[in-house]
Amino acid sequence: MITEQRKKIIINDLNEAIKLFQRIKNDDGPGSAEYCDYHPFYENTNEHLAHLLRPITIPSDSKILTVLASGDQPFNFINNGATYVDTFDINKLTEYYALGFKRTALLSLSYEQYLSLFFSNDNEEAEQLENYVIESMPEDYKCFWKEYKYVIKNLGYKASAFDLSIDDIRDDYYIKNNYLLNEKVYKEFQQKLLNAKINFTHANVTDLSTKFSQYNLVYLSNVMDYYKTVLYTDVSPQEALLKAVELTKEIYAKNVLNPGELMFSFFGTGYANEVFIDPTVEGEKRMYYAPYTYPSHRGLKKGKGLW
Ligand SMILES: C[S@@+](CC[C@H](N)C(=O)[O-])C[C@H]1O[C@@H](n2cnc3c(N)ncnc32)[C@H](O)[C@@H]1O
Repeated sequence: MITEQRKKIIINDLNEAIKLFQRIKNDDGPGSAEYCDYHPFYENTNEHLAHLLRPITIPSDSKILTVLASGDQPFNFINNGATYVDTFDINKLTEYYALGFKRTALLSLSYEQYLSLFFSNDNEEAEQLENYVIESMPEDYKCFWKEYKYVIKNLGYKASAFDLSIDDIRDDYYIKNNYLLNEKVYKEFQQKLLNAKINFTHANVTDLSTKFSQYNLVYLSNVMDYYKTVLYTDVSPQEALLKAVELTKEIYAKNVLNPGELMFSFFGTGYANEVFIDPTVEGEKRMYYAPYTYPSHRGLKKGKGLW
């Protein structure tokens, strides 16, 4: 049963998703660097999460806070041992995609079918898989996606949940995700995902230190790009970076449980360097510079640090 309050939220989000679709069709959609409540979502991660998380053992009682984005952040943490993950995102549609569509696809499709959902050149097969996933969803998400497809079809388009996605990273997403490495790993992951809890809160990264409690691990991905592309467009990228570093330090102080526990954040392309913060060592706060763009975690170099 969907409560009246939840129904209202879903209808509002649905109307906004439809408006976004129409804006995209009219070539008036938000650019991929603009972040707002309703925005195209990433189908799959563009980070090499399998590589990044390989050295990290996650005790099952760990509290984790991560950006939701494509869902691959919480999914990779869960495959590495987490059972409880809080997520946030500025984009409300990430919830419907990652926790509705993608989580259901992972729980209901075989390994081969899951890869086909993204890879298949056979449109009919992909559509059948998509419809099967939508029918298998929890009621609230099913209501959103069924209605979305119905309205878009009535507008005269071939409707798909992927209409609203950023799909430029389809080619190698399966090696970037630790839960997709092979069929055996995938099957074990399905069980872990079933037993895990993922919460979502619609929030801006600037709200983390006030809206969220404390965690063993906070993962910010490249959400700090927001500082450069939205919040501080009138100052130099270097100044915006320093502001972003200030916020990262505040989040570390307020949201990370114990000194020495983990917090990751990297600042994306367009700053002087990509910067990856990893204040892990005995309460010492260190910053690492990664010289190239994605996957920035390969070949980390310890830098002088900004604090
Ligand atoms: C920066 S994007 C890039 C994709 C990401 N690297 C991945 O692997 O999925 C990550 C997500 O951060 C979200 N995001 C960006 N700026 C944000 C902000 N200021 N607060 C909260 N979420 C933000 C976007 O909506 C998007 O879903």
